[in-house]
Amino acid sequence: MEPLKGLILSGGAGTRLRPITHTSAKQLVPVANKPVLFYGIEALVGAGITEVGIVIAPETGDEIREAAGDGSAFGASITYIPQERPLGLAHAVLTAERFLGDSPFVMYLGDNLLRDGISALADAFREHEPDALILLTRVPDPWHYGVAELDGERVVRLVEKPKDPPSDLALVGVYMFTTAIFEAARAIEPSWRDELEITDAIQRLIDGGSRVESHTVSGWWKDTGQLADMLEANRLVLEDVERRMDGHADTESRVEGRVAIEAGAKLERSVVRGPAIIGAGARVVDSYVGPYTSIDRDVEIVGSEVEHSILLAGASVRNLQTRIEASLLGRNVNLARSHEMPKTLRMIVGDNSEISIP
Ligand code: TTP
Repeated sequence: MEPLKGLILSGGAGTRLRPITHTSAKQLVPVANKPVLFYGIEALVGAGITEVGIVIAPETGDEIREAAGDGSAFGASITYIPQERPLGLAHAVLTAERFLGDSPFVMYLGDNLLRDGISALADAFREHEPDALILLTRVPDPWHYGVAELDGERVVRLVEKPKDPPSDLALVGVYMFTTAIFEAARAIEPSWRDELEITDAIQRLIDGGSRVESHTVSGWWKDTGQLADMLEANRLVLEDVERRMDGHADTESRVEGRVAIEAGAKLERSVVRGPAIIGAGARVVDSYVGPYTSIDRDVEIVGSEVEHSILLAGASVRNLQTRIEASLLGRNVNLARSHEMPKTLRMIVGDNSEISIP
């Protein structure tokens, strides 16, 4: 088989992660202080796939180009493929047809995370040489997903969000295709949500007699398209974080468990309980940072408690006198209790933000 190319879909609208996605790409939200997208690029390179195309949207494309660059930092060569509008995953495949040429390829959704990467999947594809190979995982609530019906390893039917699921095997956001997918994607009609659905294109392959196989993942998989999943992905990645102290903690501070403290970070009179990561240049003063928290570069936490949350670069939290939990704070968000009127909240909050106050 010809060498595989990689196609990462990093366009889309990201409506479910607003307001973060009003100003930034969801694929660049950091999980354990590393953009989600980078895990995807690393997964491809880990499977020996170094020629990578990234589909980008007009609104967030430049930011993605700037973050991932030419790919050399990952040992890859990256080509950017603009998609004018998010018209569906199968539309994204067609948009990338020139880049993909005759090569078989892996399509990887840029907001997905897979614990064990995709090497086993790529090996199965290279070995069996089916027309397409989809990745599946067992889920307790298949009615929320695209679900596969199998005959052995062979896929006989795909159903989107079935009321009566034929199995508990949900589609994971990684697919392997040969050039047969282009014709199938061209042959289908847009769905009720006006997108060219990749499940319809794969079903078309099956119906036309193509061999579509499946591979079931064993490690965890997360689609980070919404807040709860993003926090869960952060929790899962932090489960594997290693203790590291490249910053500084004063004698009145305590670091418990697996906490990675990056260069220039400072802890003063604070407790950090892992698993957690404290980014470069961050300051934690008179505060508590609890498990499953990712504090990005230059964040300041003063007189506050934060747990099971993601704070993006430059955010600050001061004197809250209440604990922040299960939260995602965007870049440079400032959250503070004012001293003059302790019972009042003073905020500038962007469109579609969500704040709940006890
Ligand atoms: P989705 O999460 O299914 O779609 P979305 O990004 O538009 O988000 P939402 O539903 O919250 O509005 O997309 C999965 C991945 O594929 C994600 O990284 C975005 C990318 N994508 C494209 O690149 N082009 C597209 O046309 C679509 C629909 C998605």
